[in-house]
Amino acid sequence: MIINITNKDLEIIKDLEEKFPDVFLKFDITHDFQNNPYTRYLVYLIDSKVVGFINYNDIYDRVEIINFNVLEFFQNKHIGSSLLQRLIELTKKNNMKNITLEVRSDNEKAIYLYKKYGFKSVSIRKNYYNDIDGILMEKELMDVKDIYILGIESSCDETSFSIVKNGVVEISTVISSQIDIHKQYGGVVPEIASRAHIKNITFVIEECLEKANMTMDEITAIAVANGPGLIGSLLVGVEAAKTLAFIYNKPLIPVHHIAGHIYANNLVKRLEFPLISLVISGGHTELIYMEKDYSFEKLGGTLDDAVGECYDKVGRVIDVPYPGGPIIDRLAYDGKPTYELPIPLNDNSYNFSFSGLKSAVINLVHNKEQRGNEINKENLACSFQNVVIETLTKKTMKALKEYNVKNLILAGGVAANKGIRNRFQKLCEEENINYTFPSIKYATDNAAMIASAGYYAYLDGRRADLSLNSTSSLELK
Ligand code: KG4
Ligand code: ZN
Repeated sequence: MIINITNKDLEIIKDLEEKFPDVFLKFDITHDFQNNPYTRYLVYLIDSKVVGFINYNDIYDRVEIINFNVLEFFQNKHIGSSLLQRLIELTKKNNMKNITLEVRSDNEKAIYLYKKYGFKSVSIRKNYYNDIDGILMEKELMDVKDIYILGIESSCDETSFSIVKNGVVEISTVISSQIDIHKQYGGVVPEIASRAHIKNITFVIEECLEKANMTMDEITAIAVANGPGLIGSLLVGVEAAKTLAFIYNKPLIPVHHIAGHIYANNLVKRLEFPLISLVISGGHTELIYMEKDYSFEKLGGTLDDAVGECYDKVGRVIDVPYPGGPIIDRLAYDGKPTYELPIPLNDNSYNFSFSGLKSAVINLVHNKEQRGNEINKENLACSFQNVVIETLTKKTMKALKEYNVKNLILAGGVAANKGIRNRFQKLCEEENINYTFPSIKYATDNAAMIASAGYYAYLDGRRADLSLNSTSSLELK
């Protein structure tokens, strides 16, 4: 994680002074903060401990690097380049013109890194360091390098690769879906899913690069969904990502699948913060608060079934093919809410519960069947969907109000649901809330969303090495 510290981050300051005694032996960071309004410390933390930093001055239209250090043990691990990249991004974001620095002419490693990021020598300061010259380098910010992230998604039954530029521009995406294979079993069969991923994955990557007309050399970093999901399926994507990262020597970025779903919205419109995201998919139903990019705070979630899972199980009882969600959505459109169903977990929390609703629908259908009564599928779909919409909108709108947040995004496969979208759209317009929904094609699983999230994870300094594993249940943080 990379952060810009303030004089209130006392523990980090202490750690920074202790880790780099050569720099801070006679230098007090707190004192620097008090006396120099332009001073900034961009710090790279691993497990809350400092491993590197850039101290710079941020003076009106330009940035001046004062000190740049990475602990020896952590060198050659992309940490220095991540810090530098972040500084360039920040400088660009603040509309500043250039970055300057001074480097010893015998510090070849540092000079190489600066050149790689577009710094050019502008003058030599003869014998600046006793008898070693100092080189003054400068980077003009007009030529910031584009960042191309290759995203990989294989957490359930879609094998997908995508290339996204700078987190927002989709270059190419290929999704190979296994729905037709799993349809005959009424749901995803994990063992079959992982075998199908293995069969498809090399074709999918080749096609993705071909469509983009790019080679792996042009890719900046590789982002992979490493959880949560089906362990066997995830493993195929993670192993592919590690192999590519190793062969082409690219940074590897682990991305939480739900972070991906959230960033599917970033491909529609750049996210605005703070925001609340309602995540509704086959495996998740959660309310997430985001203060800024790649920062997630869970407000609540389902205590049992996920909403998509509930849709699919209801689909099964009314005898529609897998996945039932989109079909129920269509049926509901032509139906009326004639069946009475309970509103689940109708309380003040931000949690959800869908197993009671699912059981109520199953009982209702079985009851009718036993009595020889026909079920009206359209009306049942409409009654069920209305209860879902009621629960989701009530808790989400309450969260927006209580957290005083003006931006809402929907995320996950169920965010493709027309009924849910329409109701949220209406409520947000009434309450003056900005809303974004993912495009229908990227509401369900895809790698474009992983590549977009991967860009912000990359800027946040998140990296994995070749020991990266996939995890079926993984916390979003
Ligand atoms: O996000 P996703 O592709 O996979 C997970 O991460 O779980 O979501 C798949 C889920 C399935 O349960 C599917 O039935 C549901 O999204 N879904 C829908 C609709 N389209 C997909 N549910 C309701 N209405 C839809 N239009
Ligand atoms: Zn998903």
